[in-house]
Amino acid sequence: MSTSNHNPDLARDISRRRTFAIISHPDAGKTTLTEKLLMYGGAIQEAGAVKARRAARHATSDWLEIEKQRGISVSSSVMQFEYNGYTINLLDTPGHQDFSEDTYRVLTAVDAAVMVIDAAKGVEAQTIKLLEVCRLRDTPIITFVNKFDREVRGPLEILEEIEDTLKIDCAPVSWPIGMGKSFRGVFDLLSDRLLRFRAGEERQSTDTEVMEGLDNPRMDELFPDEAEILREEVNLIRGASSPFDAELFLAGMQTPVFFGSGINNFGVQEVLRALIEWAPEPQPREAVERSVEPTENPLTGFVFKIQANMDPKHRDRIAFFRICSGRYTPGVKLSHLRLGREMRISNAQTFLANSRKASDESVAGDIIGIHNHGQLQIGDTLTEGEDLNFRGIPYFAPELFVSARPADPLKSKQLQKGLKELGEEGAVQVFSNELGRKLLGAVGRLQFEIVAHRLKGEYNVDAAYDPVDIYTARWLSFPDKETRAKFRQRESASLAEDVDGNPVYLAPSRYKLQITQERFPEVGFHATREHGEVVTQG
Ligand code: G4P
Repeated sequence: MSTSNHNPDLARDISRRRTFAIISHPDAGKTTLTEKLLMYGGAIQEAGAVKARRAARHATSDWLEIEKQRGISVSSSVMQFEYNGYTINLLDTPGHQDFSEDTYRVLTAVDAAVMVIDAAKGVEAQTIKLLEVCRLRDTPIITFVNKFDREVRGPLEILEEIEDTLKIDCAPVSWPIGMGKSFRGVFDLLSDRLLRFRAGEERQSTDTEVMEGLDNPRMDELFPDEAEILREEVNLIRGASSPFDAELFLAGMQTPVFFGSGINNFGVQEVLRALIEWAPEPQPREAVERSVEPTENPLTGFVFKIQANMDPKHRDRIAFFRICSGRYTPGVKLSHLRLGREMRISNAQTFLANSRKASDESVAGDIIGIHNHGQLQIGDTLTEGEDLNFRGIPYFAPELFVSARPADPLKSKQLQKGLKELGEEGAVQVFSNELGRKLLGAVGRLQFEIVAHRLKGEYNVDAAYDPVDIYTARWLSFPDKETRAKFRQRESASLAEDVDGNPVYLAPSRYKLQITQERFPEVGFHATREHGEVVTQG
């Protein structure tokens, strides 16, 4: 299909789209920031709505209840709102107990990310992991250093930690004055003005006092103790740090850094503005066959997340589909390339906030939810006929493992079938070792609970899980058959196959992984695997 088939209306609509996710460690302030952004977009009227939903979800330890809540959370998985004439898609990255491979996969469907750092805690474990996933596609990152209304670490120290730990160049675009009780505001390094901080949950940026220029005498009047320090720091930081460079940002090599206090609605609008002005519009996507421009007329896209129905009697699922090109219109006929058949999509769920008319407004960059009965899997590409396979939905090396067996030994066939299908769907990773044992791998514990529940509800089998001593998994690639045989001979106890028959090394410890890598330098040990890709050679 020709790429010259571009449409100016479509191009205009796409240029006004931004699709992003927030990455953070639990408690850094993701929910608070989400809420404030939704308030700016008019999608919610008051703060507390998202939080109340989250609290309801986590107040219960019964995960069935969590699943029920998830029925509601289909709409909070993608939150679309309008701001300044732009349509913004905010994709939720489930955290806390909900942390799972979905959290990683969501990041393959966005064009940018906002990283929230708790200024007291600095860069934390989950942020590091999520940033690594962003790196796979060089996703541009905007950083928001949160909670300056508390006693936190100094801004320089935080910048250094981000640069050292995350290996990304920081370009501070604002600079905080004081912190905690003496937090006075931030100095905007780009527009050369100071935004004065005042505490208050419901504050709007319109009532923020602004002082133009670093030498503004009003600063000395208001904060005689801090004004001089601020001038020194700003001059120092201007000399010492990298200036913001849009190209480096878009290449994922530099992150603009904002300081603020989400809960006080301070610094939030600046992040939103950066998303609109700096973050990219929906970008071309690489398929195995070619690169697809968002402005091409035919509708194309891929599935990055599946949500099973909360009611086990109905096996319908919602596939979250990122539109890569074209415009969705109800009734569109799409080719399901993996199955080699057509699907008519008439009742896709769209995520438009309040006022606008739904359904025919979704274009490249947007997400639609497609109801189906299991035909769609994570990584599936749908097009209007062209044979394309989008890349970029990887499997991630699991970090939690259990072995699964049926509580009733007579049900082992059902268990096998269930695990095969759930493994293919992407709910959990399933490995079979040389002894035929089924090992489940996940990045979040909830995945195991969901699988147990679905095995019972959909396959009528009670699964029992046993702990296993596995530290992590690596997909293997061999240069030749001989190496593969040698590896197998030596490491058979730690060898397994994934659902697609790829060889996987299940390392019992970090140390064992390291010495095995050293022993077999010619073997590739891969921490991710592309969906549908076969890693093995030889
Ligand atoms: P998360 O989604 O990343 O897990 O974080 P969330 O927004 O829920 O925020 C975690 C805690 O940090 C919450 O407090 C929240 O109120 C607080 N918080 C968020 N932003 C700021 C900020 O800018 N300054 C200060 N001081 N606190 C902030 P909590 O006590 O866990 O919950 P709550 O009882 O306040 O709801």
